[in-house]
Amino acid sequence: GAGTATAVAHPNIALVKYWGKRDERLFLPRTDSLSMTLDIFPTTTRVRLAPGAEHDTLTFNGAPATGEARRRIAAFLDLVRERAALGHRAVVDTVNTVPTGAGLASSASGFAALAVAAAAAYGLALDATALSRLARRGSGSASRSLFGDFAVWHAGVSAGTAEQADLSSYAEPVHAAPLDPALVIAVVDAGPKAVSSREAMRRTVGTSPLYEPWAHSSGADLADMRAALGRGDLEAVGEIAERNALGMHATMLAARPAVRYMSPASLTVLDSVLQLRREGTAAYATMDAGPNVKVLCRRADAQRVAAAVRSAVPGRAVHIAGPGPGARLLSE
Ligand code: DP6
Repeated sequence: GAGTATAVAHPNIALVKYWGKRDERLFLPRTDSLSMTLDIFPTTTRVRLAPGAEHDTLTFNGAPATGEARRRIAAFLDLVRERAALGHRAVVDTVNTVPTGAGLASSASGFAALAVAAAAAYGLALDATALSRLARRGSGSASRSLFGDFAVWHAGVSAGTAEQADLSSYAEPVHAAPLDPALVIAVVDAGPKAVSSREAMRRTVGTSPLYEPWAHSSGADLADMRAALGRGDLEAVGEIAERNALGMHATMLAARPAVRYMSPASLTVLDSVLQLRREGTAAYATMDAGPNVKVLCRRADAQRVAAAVRSAVPGRAVHIAGPGPGARLLSE
């Protein structure tokens, strides 16, 4: 009913990465990025207005949200309250199905689901573009989880006012010819991140001599990626994704002090991907702000790729994902 809404959203993995902000408060990125939304590990978020309550009540998988997660969600709700001109606190229950310690980012699915549910609960009638812009304010990559399959997030205009920049930075679907892709996700290390992605981005943009060249070449990667998706060329999609991701990690290795997310096990998985290619299997690696490796391949090859990865790093969890749906409201 009115004042209560539940939404579900899925994680996304960038094939052309978002790495670096030009405005931290507004979550405006330095570059455009492009991702595939997954069909596994949804986040479901229920928002219920609590008129008269003094505080937001936030639970995450049944336990009270604390620390940085609590602060980010409360700040996000403040933004929604300001837009809706409605000050009510809320009860927010989030159920996240990413296996605990899988080291996969849940902020993208989390803030996409929260944006959709909170907008509905606070009575904001927002279209998909406005929801994407709103989700961006919780976590940049969440802007892309509004959409299924492939989505591009526009960095937006840099000249002009902050409002013009904010209005022009949103995600939208990208056309792709049939690809039948899969992402094989190797969880090489389930421990907490050494450096948060926010801090790592800041340090990279501020100190890495490789950052500007990567940001520049990322523009070309995006154009090439759109063309490769448009013609359904999985080999090209994979090659572009791999070079873009390894380049991003190179920018971090050159930061001062260096940020290194790759572990020995990550490199072992990267070796197994090279070996698969030598044997004629289209398999390409991408990595985010952690040691896990995601391998893009054809759906028909996914089991074989997963088996190769499992034997490279025995005992680690390996998940297979396909393209998934965009964020949506569940009917109450
Ligand atoms: C490496 O979206 O988690 O996964 O905007 O600070 O919340 P914040 O960062 P976040 O960063 C994602 C970085 C990445 C690449 C990507 O998803 O494009």
